[in-house]
Amino acid sequence: MRVIVCENAQEVAKEAAKIFAAQVYMKPNSVLGLATGSTPVGMYKILADMNKNGEISFKDCKSFNLDEYYPLAPTHDQSYRYFMNVNFFDHIDIDKANTRVPDGLAEDPAAMGAEYDAAIDAAGGVDIQVLGIGQNGHIAFNEPDEKLVAGTHLTSLTESTINANARFFEKKEDVPTQAVTMGMASIMKAKTIILLATGKAKHDAVKELLDDKITTSNPATLLKLHPNTIIIADKDAYNG
Ligand code: GLP
Repeated sequence: MRVIVCENAQEVAKEAAKIFAAQVYMKPNSVLGLATGSTPVGMYKILADMNKNGEISFKDCKSFNLDEYYPLAPTHDQSYRYFMNVNFFDHIDIDKANTRVPDGLAEDPAAMGAEYDAAIDAAGGVDIQVLGIGQNGHIAFNEPDEKLVAGTHLTSLTESTINANARFFEKKEDVPTQAVTMGMASIMKAKTIILLATGKAKHDAVKELLDDKITTSNPATLLKLHPNTIIIADKDAYNG
């Protein structure tokens, strides 16, 4: 695992954008694994500017997002589909038909999950996966648990995650208690993974990511088994 420590969140965004843009520059038809949350927003902004300036193009890329609240319509302003449109897709030249987010309204989430994983494989697998990290070490919506799930699946959110994400909703009761998420194997299959972490609230989770232990009680620690993961953290997340 390579670790890049940056002065602040803006520097994290710049470093992440450099690595992401290099991937798309080297392989214009890259398969992109994308994340929501506030952390990657700065990186998306830089990439959108690079796209506008003609430095990189996403027109031949495909993308797969990590997760979606359940049940939630893609048109809902707190859905991750809506988030991706507003924060990234609306500002770049990607063909939206080639962008996928797990279906938050799937009647049969298990079938949807299997189809989603098959679609990623059929596209050739994710070339670069962007990840944030939850305060409890969750990645996508793989919450700490005794057992983690391999493929894309329906899951329940922990109290910690509901509390952390309540800031985006009018009131805590509005936060969905379930989500559909790529599983650990779906994520670990990505060829390159960049995990972005900013702010003191992420320090405990990041600290465990940097020791030599692996535990399902901090799902991000499984990334230590991945051959090409880059952690990009600001000083607050790194030092606490
Ligand atoms: C959500 C998402 C995760 C994200 C996490 C952290 O729970 N499912 O993919 O990493 O939030 O979000 P933030 O970057 O806003 O701290």
